[in-house]
Amino acid sequence: MVKICCIGAGYVGGPTMAVIAIKCPAIEVVVVDISKPRIDAWNSDTLPIYEPGLDEVVKACRGKNLFFSTDVEKHVAEADIIFVSVNTPTKTRGLGAGKAADLTYWESAARMIADVSKSDKIVVEKSTVPVKTAEAIEKILTHNSKGINYQILSNPEFLAEGTAIDDLFKPDRVLIGGRETPGGQKAIQALKAVYAHWVPEENIITTNLWSAELSKLAANAFLAQRISSVNAMSALCEATGADVSEVSYAIGKDSRIGPKFLSASVGFGGSCFQKDILNLVYICECNGLPEVANYWKQVIKINDYQKSRFVNRVVSSMFNTVSGKKVAVLGFAFKKDTGDTREAPAIDVCNGLLGDKAQVSIYDPQVTGEQIQRDLAMNKFDWDHPMHLQPTSPAALKQVSVVWDAYEATKDAHAVCILTEWEEFKKLDYQKIFDNMQKPAFVFDGRNVVDAAKLREIGFIVYSIGKPLDAWLKDMPAVA
Ligand code: UDX
Ligand code: UDX
Ligand code: ADP
Repeated sequence: MVKICCIGAGYVGGPTMAVIAIKCPAIEVVVVDISKPRIDAWNSDTLPIYEPGLDEVVKACRGKNLFFSTDVEKHVAEADIIFVSVNTPTKTRGLGAGKAADLTYWESAARMIADVSKSDKIVVEKSTVPVKTAEAIEKILTHNSKGINYQILSNPEFLAEGTAIDDLFKPDRVLIGGRETPGGQKAIQALKAVYAHWVPEENIITTNLWSAELSKLAANAFLAQRISSVNAMSALCEATGADVSEVSYAIGKDSRIGPKFLSASVGFGGSCFQKDILNLVYICECNGLPEVANYWKQVIKINDYQKSRFVNRVVSSMFNTVSGKKVAVLGFAFKKDTGDTREAPAIDVCNGLLGDKAQVSIYDPQVTGEQIQRDLAMNKFDWDHPMHLQPTSPAALKQVSVVWDAYEATKDAHAVCILTEWEEFKKLDYQKIFDNMQKPAFVFDGRNVVDAAKLREIGFIVYSIGKPLDAWLKDMPAVA
């Protein structure tokens, strides 16, 4: 029986291993983590992450061929294939601070593997890492090898949160990079055999190590670039009277462009896009390619611009001040169907509104009050961010309330900001919301989810990203 161990029971490790377990009943899969609360949660009825379909998959195989444990060393020692799926945040201090990936967790995982291993291992990079990390890991392992043969593979994960289970069941492709040696090729085949249980062979791509590592950064950079491109267009649409949805539809019909990832929004968030682009920028700089670095940096700058543009629109529409006014924020997660708030645009938008002294009342169906307070107070590393989106001071956090109902959040509010595209926000009773709000009542739709025409009939002043502006908004132009 092949034994797989995955180090790191997070958003990537947990769902990925659960799907391997359900698709490969003959393989034993153990997910290990140093965090006991995380592992306890994976072993309970309330999993540590919200992901549609995940509960069913975990319930179907947990205790059979899927296990969650804090006994990291034992399971690493017993495994044939070790996936490493630990966090790789952006460095906050030292060389490359604000851009380079912090590989502390990765390195300690690698040293631990070297310490406890007694048999040959295939070590698989699952978390996104800078190009050439495999080489560093290989060095750590082989320098401490005690005669053990290690093969390093790069097998980046392309799942998106909120659709992780679907993405894992039917991946567009699985990418496996390895050394071009006989040993490397044999390891690639061993991992390929795992995925071949459910992924058609033609969708399993094998490459060299560096291509696999770089492809992950490149894929995220290209996806984020599409969003920044359409968001840049949204600003021009507002200025000219074009409608960004019509523009997106029209350009997406060109098969060379394609329809996906062209939705204008208040900005992209999530744990990957910004982090991976910063990482790419750093790698370019380190390789003496400042022009390339600047090209990709622009994708993040437009994203920051989009968020501050949104805040400015809110403030300028409401007579240039939101001081003391209640502003309802619907949605805090970085996208729908997840409780994840990492790099959520809502963080910067709320910080901006709080900086202008608004009373902010937040509702998100999956995010807790404690999480929101933590996110707003977090000191983000200033790589070269526009400085008006400062973290909120402890005193200003008193202006924040978190409630468990959209109607409660919007009661007596002057404005509603929709920052996550949760389905339930489309179905709210906006007449009831309008009746309970201060007048004039504003809706700022950062995700273009509401029917703006209907809301205008009710009496709202509506702002939708990249759409022709209401007369009111035209008269109060936002300066970004
Ligand atoms: C382009 C648009 O494709 C077309 O829809 C529009 O109406 C007019 O402009 P054209 O300039 O004739 O058409 O050729 P196109 O095939 O788009 O190529 C433009 C340039 O990009 C060429 O120099 C081509 O060699 C280059 N190119 C194209 C690349 O370098 N790489 C590619 O992957 C594709
Ligand atoms: C992303 C990649 O899609 C995935 O392949 C990679 O493995 C991890 O990073 P994720 O961050 O989970 O996944 O979500 P994604 O669906 O890509 O959305 C990222 C952000 O972009 C979200 O904030 C989303 O709301 C925003 N977005 C997405 C837009 O603003 N417009 C779009 O058209 C698409
Ligand atoms: P991702 O989104 O990439 O899955 P997460 O932060 O959700 O990232 O998960 C990473 C997990 O890795 C965390 O639960 C963390 O506790 C775990 N982790 C980090 N370092 C180690 C280590 N050396 N051994 C075991 N688990 C680790």
